[in-house]
Amino acid sequence: MGRVFVAGSINMDVVATAERHPRIGETVAGEAVLYFPGGKGANQAVASAKLGIATTLIGRLGADAFGKELRTFLAGQGVDLTFVRDTDGAHSSTAIITLANADNTIVVVPGANGLVDADDVAAPVLARGDVAVSQFEIPLPAIAAFFRRARAVGATTILNPAPAKQADKALLDLVDILVLNETELGYLTGTGLRDSDTPERFSEAARALGQGRIVCVTLGKRGVLALVDNQPLLVPGREVKAVDTTGAGDCFVGALASQLAIGKPLGDALAYANAAASICVQRMGAAPSMPTADEVSAVLSTRRPGEGRDP
Ligand code: RIB
Repeated sequence: MGRVFVAGSINMDVVATAERHPRIGETVAGEAVLYFPGGKGANQAVASAKLGIATTLIGRLGADAFGKELRTFLAGQGVDLTFVRDTDGAHSSTAIITLANADNTIVVVPGANGLVDADDVAAPVLARGDVAVSQFEIPLPAIAAFFRRARAVGATTILNPAPAKQADKALLDLVDILVLNETELGYLTGTGLRDSDTPERFSEAARALGQGRIVCVTLGKRGVLALVDNQPLLVPGREVKAVDTTGAGDCFVGALASQLAIGKPLGDALAYANAAASICVQRMGAAPSMPTADEVSAVLSTRRPGEGRDP
């Protein structure tokens, strides 16, 4: 059985809830200010660990109060923090989130995350069968170094290129599975995609990234579209009442990694991750809303006919 290694960001999410999002230049009255552990790397590691898979997080915290709080929370979720360093002179990364009608806007101030480097990812020892996961909230050279080490031992690499930014081909060539949403797909392929576009349009765009790797496009409530050897596989979304979608994509990535680490076939792993994300959106906060394996099993026992099969 493999393990999951996540090299990525650890943030304190400072969330302001309001009835609606302000327009540019506008002020609106909020309802509450909430503090949740977050960061794409930490969220993905918590998702995997809570599902019962040995999970190691590699990253940095500032030597400050948020850093202490985040470390305590992550340890409590069963994430191995041996390779999370406290960094003098840097603040823990903070995400300023506005949440209205279950949807968010996010501004991330990198702090210690921006200092993760090749030395940080050189320490953990990966092995064949492990899964190495990263996202774009730490510097890209560190991700490339991490994936090179993973590839060298035959571990599977998963990249979640979020938030979207241009990456060179050398980095993408180190990726076995790319997991991204419609906006990130549009950005990386230079195509103007919209939420309302058809799955065929997403498949077409994903083909540009699919040479030699699996591409999974998360489509929110519509589910996930995977392109495997250029063949589309659609896992439909589940009808749930979302209260906060923050971290749902991370839940999907962490759950997918966890299932691949224990050797599940891709179609089953996608259906599992999809079910996990449908639980996450029904709770407030990012890292604290990741489900347990029992919760995901309960949702999967209500699996609809056709899920996980070709469209
Ligand atoms: O993907 C959600 C995460 O993005 C939040 O937890 C926030 O920290 C930002 O990194």
